[in-house]
Amino acid sequence: MATDVFTQILKDHNCIKGLYRLFQGETDPKNREKFADGIIREATIHTYTEEIVVYRAYEKYMPDGKKYAQDSLKDHEFIRKMLVKLDASRVTDPEYAEMMDLTMKEFEKHVKEEEEEILPRLKRYLNDQLVDELGKEYARIKPTVPQKPKMHD
Ligand SMILES: [Fe+2]
Ligand SMILES: [Fe+2]
Repeated sequence: MATDVFTQILKDHNCIKGLYRLFQGETDPKNREKFADGIIREATIHTYTEEIVVYRAYEKYMPDGKKYAQDSLKDHEFIRKMLVKLDASRVTDPEYAEMMDLTMKEFEKHVKEEEEEILPRLKRYLNDQLVDELGKEYARIKPTVPQKPKMHD
């Protein structure tokens, strides 16, 4: 049985938060860059995968899912705009830490809403088979999405 979709999402969120803690606790620029690159890559992959699999499921299975999907997409677009900026900057730039903190503040706010409100709500409209199917789809799509953030407009 594939890992269910909710477990995979939580794992992604925790991985990105964990990389941020490592980034914060590190003073060596080389290591800070390694953790920052990890955040940029993992957050990019997560947002794209979630949009394709999970936000589509909001629209399909939740009665008011369209609104949730649109609001969540706006959060993702802001986060990706920040990831593009981070990606184009150097970890040693004076404003880098501030940009990263702003990005992660938004990310943490966004995932808190997903974990505490929206995903539990989605879960109520899915049966075990759908949770399993979405989990399989999530695992299938994740290796196919862009790993570098880019702007679409
Ligand atoms: Fe999200
Ligand atoms: Fe998420």
